[in-house]
Amino acid sequence: MDASVFQFEGKSVFVAGGSSGINLGIADAFARHGANVAILSRSQDRIATALEQLRRHGGAAEGYSADVREAAAVADALKQAHARFGPIDVLVSGAAGNFLAPALGMSANGFKTVVDIDLLGSFNVLRAAHEFLRKPGASVISLSASQAFVPTPYQAHVCAAKAGVDMLTKVLAMEWGGDGIRVNSIVPGPIEGTEGIRRLAPDDETRERMTARVPLGRYGSVDDIAGMAMVLSSPLGAYITGVVLPVDGGISLSGPRDFGAAWAATRRES
Ligand code: HXC
Ligand code: NAP
Repeated sequence: MDASVFQFEGKSVFVAGGSSGINLGIADAFARHGANVAILSRSQDRIATALEQLRRHGGAAEGYSADVREAAAVADALKQAHARFGPIDVLVSGAAGNFLAPALGMSANGFKTVVDIDLLGSFNVLRAAHEFLRKPGASVISLSASQAFVPTPYQAHVCAAKAGVDMLTKVLAMEWGGDGIRVNSIVPGPIEGTEGIRRLAPDDETRERMTARVPLGRYGSVDDIAGMAMVLSSPLGAYITGVVLPVDGGISLSGPRDFGAAWAATRRES
């Protein structure tokens, strides 16, 4: 296999939640390799900053402000991106929300908020995108988390939501395989410098405990995840669909993590 497998010149990539963190890192990696990239998230300011970064690579980049909980707004953004860049070759669904709280410390609306962003939001993105995906050939990737299969105290909402995301991956891999669309989940480990890990390991002690649970002994980088998104979307991934793939230094092998101290330090009375 030659290096050209990682050439994405002229390909169309759409990243929901693409204005920061891991998702922006994925968008950036595809932009560096020649793709035209569209991102969707809520904050106009964050979108503008992300677009400056993405356009520095020379390709085209567009941003759409929408909430993934709003199916019509998501569909409209996908329609506009399709009109601008043509059939979508790579769709990434990574918008998510999180906070630490025991089940008894979150309201029904707190639980629903995370489920709506992570799970309903993923459904909205994938459901609306189908019409605009390249058939055959599109690669669809959802960002999951080890909470999907490691029961994790203080994370009932995320555990439930991400388990749903992974089941959606598997069902749509079956339903859309006939269209030549592949659907997979990537499960990042703790990723350096991201909002997700800032919320779960806000202090040095939690960070050290987290790192000690990683068999490879370090946090991951955004590029660790972006690289796997590219592999899955390249010819190397042509026969891979319906998988839930940890890219996590092995941390998901080490069982539930203890976020009690981190929650106590950041708790919000409800
Ligand atoms: C208890 C809380 C809470 C907390 C919010 N809520 N924070 N309950 N403890 N710390 C409750 C609120 O009281 C409210 O319920 C409900 O949640 C909705 O809150 P809003 O602020 O109105 O929601 P919204 O503006 O939609 O914001 C969603 C959010 C916010 C998730 C709360 O933090 C957000 O937008 N996050 C996006 C960025 C993010 O979280 N990135 C991390 C992704 S990483 P009531 O009953 O009062 O109305 C990730 C982790 C994976 O997903 C694993 C990493 C290792
Ligand atoms: P992040 O920087 O907070 O990124 C979340 C993105 O989603 C932002 O662009 C945010 O922008 C957008 N978003 C949030 N709510 C939205 C909504 N309702 N509608 C539209 N967009 C919304 O997060 P991250 O830490 O990089 O995590 C990225 C993904 O990886 C998530 O799916 C997360 O669950 C997963 N993950 C992360 C880690 C980690 O270590 N960070 C580990 C495991 C899994 P706006 O707020 O402007 O909308």
